[in-house]
Amino acid sequence: MKKISTQVGIIGAGPAGLTLAHWLKKLGIDSVILEHRSRSYIESRVRAGLLEQNTVSIFKNLGLADRLLREGHEHHGVYLSFDGNRIRIPFGELTGGRNITIYGQQEVVKDFTGAWIDGGGELYFEAQAKQIQGLDTPRPIIHFEHEGEPAELECDFVAACDGFHGIGRQTMPAGSFNEYTITYPFSWLGILANVAPSSEELVYAYHENGFALHSLRSSTVSRLYLQVDNDDHVDNWPDERIWEELALRLGTKGWSLQSGPIFEKSITPMRSFMIDNMQHQRLFLAGDAAHIVPPTGGKGMNLAVADIKHLVDGLVDFYQNNSLKTLDKYSQTALRRIWRAQDFSNFMTTLFHKQSEHGSFTYQLQKAKFDYIQMSEAAATTIAENYVGLPFETFETNV
Ligand code: APR
Ligand code: PHB
Repeated sequence: MKKISTQVGIIGAGPAGLTLAHWLKKLGIDSVILEHRSRSYIESRVRAGLLEQNTVSIFKNLGLADRLLREGHEHHGVYLSFDGNRIRIPFGELTGGRNITIYGQQEVVKDFTGAWIDGGGELYFEAQAKQIQGLDTPRPIIHFEHEGEPAELECDFVAACDGFHGIGRQTMPAGSFNEYTITYPFSWLGILANVAPSSEELVYAYHENGFALHSLRSSTVSRLYLQVDNDDHVDNWPDERIWEELALRLGTKGWSLQSGPIFEKSITPMRSFMIDNMQHQRLFLAGDAAHIVPPTGGKGMNLAVADIKHLVDGLVDFYQNNSLKTLDKYSQTALRRIWRAQDFSNFMTTLFHKQSEHGSFTYQLQKAKFDYIQMSEAAATTIAENYVGLPFETFETNV
């Protein structure tokens, strides 16, 4: 049987696992990644693409941002629209010059996988972790299957960066955490289209037919989303219907939406999911393994990377000072930021989605919130600072 040994065993080659591996390497700490899927699968999986400034800084410091800086789009503001009334939230003025960058998550995964493999890093594709043993010993073992054969990865710590369906969370003992879930009564139909973006900055819109979002990937590729029912199907959405509905929901006076050939269509349900403990002995959960946010706040990938920052702080304390103190505070430190992002993502979701009849009490509250953002710099600043992402120090100093 194949037996491998390393310092940190990482399950999952998504943004969380890959960022962790690169960061540890930079610090001289060894790791091995096990990834259930194939390389082409993870590199082509289409997901969101909003990077907070914190995230871009981390990627830059890791020396992994060359293509991101060349091809990503830095945004200094965002448009919010309600019943056709569009306003702009300028990040620069409201957050002391912070901003966001649009760069597809699968491009991050491509860049990080390529750099890891080219740098001689160990990454086993089509390697499914099946069981984690010995978490109460100094050398836990991840049992996995590779090329149909059982194999073992022995390590000091297990980082479960294995997404919502991974085995990391399933390995946590029942009763060691509480679970919180909101299942929203709507989903997103997302498209990629070969057409120049009709807006240089993102547009989030409430319309009586439902939410719509205009985003982009490049000067020739647009990314757009529509609120649909949970039981809806892409077959109900021929291209003409999608463009018609997008134009209606995103519409504002003096602006028009350019349409073009759609080359990707998929429906994603919206939910908030959370657990309140991300560590059990030598097992640490990071990213989607521990939390899911609805994509309306653009926080998914950023939270995965922020978790890794806290986990790296803990691992450094262990390897440099032989102390578990910082690692044992990992959950507590990471959770403060995650709850903030959960709140912001829920706020953006409930503000811009159609939740009940147009004109209802709920609608009036949504409209009142939008009006407040329009009239109050304090309200606009709240949106801006959450959207671009609060600096790490905010969470560390205001305990
Ligand atoms: N063994 C090995 N790999 C596994 C296993 C397993 N048992 N279970 C899951 N995986 C792999 C998945 O195939 C996937 O590639 O773990 C990886 C988890 O990656 P992501 O789902 O991308 O999760 P994460 O790195 O936390 O990134 C979160 O992804 O869903 C978006 O919005 C979310 O942007 C956020 C980001
Ligand atoms: C995207 O570009 O895919 C995107 C951007 C912002 C969001 C969600 C998705 O809030």
